[in-house]
Amino acid sequence: MPIEFNHERNIFSLNTKNTTLQIKIDRFGYLLRLYYGPAIQDPADYIVRSDDRSFSPNPGDAGLDDRTFSLDFLPQEYPSRGTGDFRIACLQVQNADGSTSCDLRYVSHEIRDGKYEIPGLPAVHATADRAETLVIIMEDRRTRLRLELFYGVLSERDVITRSVRIINRGSDTVVLEKAASACLDLIHGRYDFIHFAGSHNGERYFEKNSAMKGVRSVGSKRGVSSHQHNPFIILAEEGATETAGRCYGLAFVWSGDFLAETEFDQYEHTRVVLGIHPDEFRYPLRPNEIFLAPEVIMSFSAAGFTPLSHNFHKTILYNVCRGEHVLKKRPVLINNWEATYFDFTGDKILSIAEQASELGIEMLVLDDGWFGNRNDDFRGLGDWVANEKKLGGPLKDLVKKINELGLKFGIWMEPEMVSEDSDLYRAHPDWALTIPGKEPIRSRSQLALDFSRKEVVDNIFDQMCAIFDSADIDYLKWDMNRSLCDVWSAAARSTEQGTVRYRYVLGIYDLLERLITRYPRLLIEGCCGGGGRFDAGMMYYTPQIWCSDNTDAIDRIFIQHGTSFAYPVSAVGSHVSSVPNHQTGRSVNFDTRATVAMAGTFGYELDLSDLTAEEKEKIKQQVKDYNKYWRLIRTGDYYRLSNPAAGDRLAAWLFVSEDGSEGLLSVVTLSTRGNPPYDFVRLIGLDPKRMYRFENRILSGSALMNVGVPVPQAPDEYQSWQVHFHAV
Ligand code: DGJ
Repeated sequence: MPIEFNHERNIFSLNTKNTTLQIKIDRFGYLLRLYYGPAIQDPADYIVRSDDRSFSPNPGDAGLDDRTFSLDFLPQEYPSRGTGDFRIACLQVQNADGSTSCDLRYVSHEIRDGKYEIPGLPAVHATADRAETLVIIMEDRRTRLRLELFYGVLSERDVITRSVRIINRGSDTVVLEKAASACLDLIHGRYDFIHFAGSHNGERYFEKNSAMKGVRSVGSKRGVSSHQHNPFIILAEEGATETAGRCYGLAFVWSGDFLAETEFDQYEHTRVVLGIHPDEFRYPLRPNEIFLAPEVIMSFSAAGFTPLSHNFHKTILYNVCRGEHVLKKRPVLINNWEATYFDFTGDKILSIAEQASELGIEMLVLDDGWFGNRNDDFRGLGDWVANEKKLGGPLKDLVKKINELGLKFGIWMEPEMVSEDSDLYRAHPDWALTIPGKEPIRSRSQLALDFSRKEVVDNIFDQMCAIFDSADIDYLKWDMNRSLCDVWSAAARSTEQGTVRYRYVLGIYDLLERLITRYPRLLIEGCCGGGGRFDAGMMYYTPQIWCSDNTDAIDRIFIQHGTSFAYPVSAVGSHVSSVPNHQTGRSVNFDTRATVAMAGTFGYELDLSDLTAEEKEKIKQQVKDYNKYWRLIRTGDYYRLSNPAAGDRLAAWLFVSEDGSEGLLSVVTLSTRGNPPYDFVRLIGLDPKRMYRFENRILSGSALMNVGVPVPQAPDEYQSWQVHFHAV
C-alpha cells in the first residue's frame, strides 16, 4: 500500500517501490518526521528521543515539570515560528495582534486515490491507479489558521511530492511572511549540500559543499528561478558517487523567487527547507482566503546520484510535462538568432529555410525582431503585430512559403515584457511594473508587464492568439529577458504589494495554460535569456527550455552535466552554432558541436550560407543520425560517465534504452598534452550477460562495464567519439 496509517502508533507510512517516509502524530498533536530512506516495514518511532536539553524550551502542554519535550530538537514535518524551535522554519506569520507564533496541531487526515492537483499551479500528474494522496490537516487553535499538508506518492517513480494549502478560518487577517513548501529533517548523518549555480551564459554548474554548523542557502529574488541558482538541490551522504551513497533530491515546481536552506544544528541534525523566498513575500490572508504553496518533488536513492537523476528524469518527462510532444519526435530546427540577430528580411529568412530544407532540417524558428518596430533591443516589445515591411508581406505568406519547402514554422515572443517605445506602453503605462514617482529600473532597456493583473494577461493572450490564428505556427519560443525590479502593481493596495511577485508567476502559468488549451499542438520552448527559468514549473507547460544562451560546445558540456542531475535530456534545448563561438570565441569542430547538441532537443543556430560543402554534408548526416537515435535519447536512461566539474580530462555520457538492448556513447576530450596517458571509459546500466556489437567487436555488458573501452587517442583537444551499439 503506498499510504498506510498505523492507528495504534499514529504513524503514517508513505511507501514507494524502494523508499519509505514515516510521519508520527505525537502525544501533543505535533507532526514528527521519523524517517525517510530505503523501504522499511517497522514503525520507526523508537528513534525519537526525549531529554532535558538545556536552553531548548518546552511547550505549555508538557507542563511545568517535563523538560524533556522540545521542538528545538525533534524532527518535524512543517516547523513554524514561535514554537520553541529556533531552527529554520517553514511558516512565519504575523497575527492580527502582532504576535508571530503559529502552533500547528493535528486535526484530521484523509487518504485518497490518485494525485492531488493544485488549481492554477503546475504539479506532478498521474493516473488514479499510479498515485495516492495523503492530506494532513493542522490548525493553530488560537488563530484558527489551518494548514493542509498534501503528500502525493508515486510508487513506481520512487517519488513523494508535497505542497501546502493554507486557509484562514479565523476572523482576523493573518499575514504570511514565509510559507515554504517542504521540510526534510534528517536526524543523523553528515550531508553534502549539492546545488547548481551559475550565471547568464553559464547556468547550473555542479557545486558541492560539506556540512557546516549553521545555515547555508541558495535562492533567487529575481522574480524567476534564475541563472544564478536552480530550484533543485541534493543532500548527499559524504563521499556519495554516481553509483553509491545515500542522497535526497528536492525539486521545486515553481518558476519565481525561491529559497533552499539547509541547517546543520547543535545536535548534528540536518534540516532542509524549500519554498518561495520570503524576503519580498508578504501575503495577507483575510478570513476564509486560501494560499497555495507550490509543489516540491522529493526522491531518495540509496545508490548514488544516477538512480536519483533517473527518478527525476522520468517524473519530469512523464508526470510533469504534458501534451503530445512528450513522446512525439520533435522537429530538428534551425533558429535564425545567431545567424542574423535583428538584421534580417523575409527573403533572408526564406533563403535560410531553402538551404535548411535541402539538408533535412525540419523547422525554421524566426527569433526576435519580426514584430512592431523591433529592429534593436530598445523598442517594440508588447506590440505583437508582424512588421510586414521587414518581412516583405504578411507573416502568413512567409509561413506558407516556408511550409511549401517542407519545413514547419516556429516563432519567438517575449510575452511578459514591454518597451517604453511601444504602442502598448503608450496606451497603458501603468501596466508595467514601475514605482510611481521613481525612475524605472530597466534591464536590457525594457520593463516587465504586471502579470499579476488579469487584464494585462488577457491583452497579451489576445495579441498572441491573433498571431497564431493568422498563420500555420507549430512552435513558440517563449523568452523572458530580465530580472524583476520595482515590483509594484498599480492594481494592488499597499498592503497587498507583497503578493505581486507570487501572483505574477500565476499570471504566466495562466497565460501558458490558456495557450496550450487553445493550441494543443503548439510546441512551446521556454527561454529566459537561455536557462534563467529552467525549472519543473515551466516544464509543466513547456516540455523543452533553451538551456543556455551559451552555445559553445565545451561550456555546454559543463552546463548540460549540471542540468542532467534533475532534468531530462528531452527538456534541454541545444543547438549547433557557428565558430568562433559568439559567446566564448572558441572554435570546436563540427562533429563535437553536434555530439554535444544531441544530448538535448537538437537543432542548428547559424548562417547556413557561411558553411562549406563538407559541413553541409555533415549536417545531412547529423540530422539522419538524430532522427535514428531520438527515441533512445528521449526515453533511454542517461548515465554520466565522467565528472567534468571535478576536472576530468574527458566528458562522457551514455544513453541506454529501457530494455537494455542498445546504447549511444558520447565522449569529448576536454584537454590535450604531449604524450598523453591513455583514456578509458567504463559504461554503466547495461545487462552484464548480454552481448553487444560495439564498433567492430562483440563484447558482453559485463566487459563494457568492468573492463571499459579505450577512448581513441585524440589528435587535438575537443574531439568527439560517438558510438551507437546494440545487443546481438
Ligand atoms: C535571449 C534568448 O535566449 C536568445 O536565444 C534570443 O532569443 C534573444 N533573447 C532574442 O532577443
